[in-house]
Amino acid sequence: MRLKDRTALITGGGTGIGLEIARHYAEEGAYVYITGRRENKLQEAVRKIGKNASYIQADVSNMEDMRRAAEKIRTERGHVDIVVANAGVGNYIPLENVTMEEFDRVMHTNVLGTYYTVQACLPLMPEGSAIILNTSVTANLGLKNFSLYIAAKSAERSFIHTWTNELRDRRIRVNAIAPGIIPTDAAGKELGRSEEEEKAAQAYRATLIPAARVGRVRDISSAAVFLASEESSYINGVELTVDGGLSAIYPVKL
Ligand SMILES: NC(=O)c1ccc[n+]([C@@H]2O[C@H](COP(=O)([O-])OP(=O)(O)OC[C@H]3O[C@@H](n4cnc5c(N)ncnc54)[C@H](OP(=O)(O)O)[C@@H]3O)[C@@H](O)[C@H]2O)c1
Repeated sequence: MRLKDRTALITGGGTGIGLEIARHYAEEGAYVYITGRRENKLQEAVRKIGKNASYIQADVSNMEDMRRAAEKIRTERGHVDIVVANAGVGNYIPLENVTMEEFDRVMHTNVLGTYYTVQACLPLMPEGSAIILNTSVTANLGLKNFSLYIAAKSAERSFIHTWTNELRDRRIRVNAIAPGIIPTDAAGKELGRSEEEEKAAQAYRATLIPAARVGRVRDISSAAVFLASEESSYINGVELTVDGGLSAIYPVKL
């Protein structure tokens, strides 16, 4: 029970990595709030988490939504100890095909969404709180057709440094997790691959990874529990790579 009696907000907690972080936090004794846009996914997620969980339907790229979410947490719990800015989107699009709509969607969700989430929650965060961002190992790479997502994740990464300094007097720690390849909706069908193509891509990728497998959502949630808990109280301002060793052996062809 490493997070006993803590209150956590996990954006994008209705599916994938965010859902597993929420489930793991609840198992470790936290009360969790998850957010997302699709209410049916959020309802299903709360059922899967089973206890100590509520959802708030909210779009991270909408400041009013995030203020409303923070206000609900304030009314119900008074404070929030752990904020996981996890919601994110990306897409493979060649540079010349990127539209302003797509540019805005990716930047608003990842960058602005992270900003609004943290801004809205800050007044509720007591000394000793933890902020965890979800970046990506791709932020180090020049992957073609992925410039928008990589730019967004690079911007998110920069917040680790500036916010660690800005929030030092409040003793709020700011860290990030950079996942490697974790099969979820975002990594598969949202990138436009069929189920079969996705399976083949993951099997190939597993051969590139020193750990000899692609990642699991539990690999990421375990890191998120660690970064939220007392065990990491002297860890501040880092990006923890959780990729089975993939980035240690760059460059590889993803
Ligand atoms: N899977 C990987 O290999 C991998 C690797 C590196 C980094 N990541 C990062 O991990 C995070 C989670 O991704 P995932 O792989 O777990 O994919 P996922 O299952 O698609 O999760 C993304 C979540 O974000 C939510 N979301 C998207 N836009 C939102 C918005 N505007 N407002 C609120 N919520 C929003 C989605 O819910 P709604 O659509 O219902 O809003 C969804 O629950 C992302 O930041 C992603 O970039 C993933």
